[in-house]
Amino acid sequence: MDSIHVRGGNPLFGETKIQGSKNAVLPIMAAALLVEGVSVIENCPKIADVDHMQKLLAGIGCVIHWRNRSLYINAENANDNKMNSESVGKMRSSIMLLGAMLGRFGKAVMNYPGGCVIGARPIDIHLNALGKMGVTVKKEKNYFTATSEKLTGTVIELPSPSVGASENVILAAINAEGITTLRNAAPEPEIVALCDFLKKAGAKIDIKTEEGKVIIVIQGGVRLNPVSFRIPADRIVAGTYMLGVLGAGGHVFLKDAPASHMRAIIELAREMNADVNVTDKGIAVLADCITKPLKYLETDIYPLFPTDLQSQLLSILTIADGESVICEKIFEDRLKVVPQLRKMGADISISGNIATIRGVSRLKGTKVKAKELRGGAALVIAGIIAEGNTIISKRQFIERGYEDIARDFRDLGVIINNV
Ligand code: EPZ
Repeated sequence: MDSIHVRGGNPLFGETKIQGSKNAVLPIMAAALLVEGVSVIENCPKIADVDHMQKLLAGIGCVIHWRNRSLYINAENANDNKMNSESVGKMRSSIMLLGAMLGRFGKAVMNYPGGCVIGARPIDIHLNALGKMGVTVKKEKNYFTATSEKLTGTVIELPSPSVGASENVILAAINAEGITTLRNAAPEPEIVALCDFLKKAGAKIDIKTEEGKVIIVIQGGVRLNPVSFRIPADRIVAGTYMLGVLGAGGHVFLKDAPASHMRAIIELAREMNADVNVTDKGIAVLADCITKPLKYLETDIYPLFPTDLQSQLLSILTIADGESVICEKIFEDRLKVVPQLRKMGADISISGNIATIRGVSRLKGTKVKAKELRGGAALVIAGIIAEGNTIISKRQFIERGYEDIARDFRDLGVIINNV
């Protein structure tokens, strides 16, 4: 079956190791296309989105294999600029191959990556930025062809610090002629990880901040050499498990958790009277079952509170003593988990992108359905803090970004299994 069963009502005790970062590994897999040799990606998470990206890369001629927890990508004979349309439709992050394919082949044919349940996920910022580098886009009904006779470095100012658009410009700039200056780039740690991979392979990249905006300067025309690179731990997976213990109470150790990328969630945990101890090996969290409501919190651009932890926070606020308000500022439709939480007894009202949560004494376990990745993880947390048994179906959405959320929460003492 495709579900997760969890018996709720107990605090969490134990230690779990945090996997490699989904949002760091995907652009780095795309970057491997620019290396005419074998790139070794260490600490690579075994998640569905990596499988999908692997299929996309294999579809354009890369030879890829796993050895233990390392992914070997040989892009030497990559040869095709036409994406496998079926796979592209399955995964949004296929758009991340656009910049790398333009850099490698000077051409890319791909489906519009399409929206998903959290929003329309347009790519206008990507295409406008690449247009400034000499890329022309021919739009067909449900696919487009991007071509560039010669990628030219230039100054690009993003209208908003889009993570994916920043990654595509960086990847296109590697083989562009001259220097590309990307202004108002996304500040996320995953952008830094991508630049770290590229610099290790020989790229000349400089990241600085001016008046609060990130500026990334890329010297084009530098040939990249094959390298091994270790993917940093996933700050969103670690934040998910931290919210689990803030909800249920307990004492856990999140091994390898990247505390320096988790300032907002650590500050929130401490505001909720949790004891959070950061070490160089990971993060220890000691907390009572949540009581304090959150007067108001909005999701925002890094390092402020991440949109990817919003649904998981919403889950635990359902049993706080009082009223909490969450405003989702990044995606237009990211409160999809609310109807499923209401089935468990949550009292939540929505107005636009604002959720008002009135705490109830307990959630009740029942059957619920995951609709998307982070909402699915939020339902697992809801099952952990609920009374009785919860069955979360459509587990495949959660497996897009979590290697095995049941395994990790079982490490923390939860009665939970894939069923
Ligand atoms: C990345 O998505 C992450 N995905 C998302 O994580 C994350 O939530 C998001 O960044 C914000 O941090 C990956 O890295 C694979 P954006 P991305 O471009 O690149 C709008 C998860 O759960 N926009 O910064 O798509 C867009 O609609 C996922 O792991 C445009 O309008 O995010 C959104 O409202 C979910 N036009 C906002 O900007 C564009 O051309 C932020 O998008 C591009 C984006």
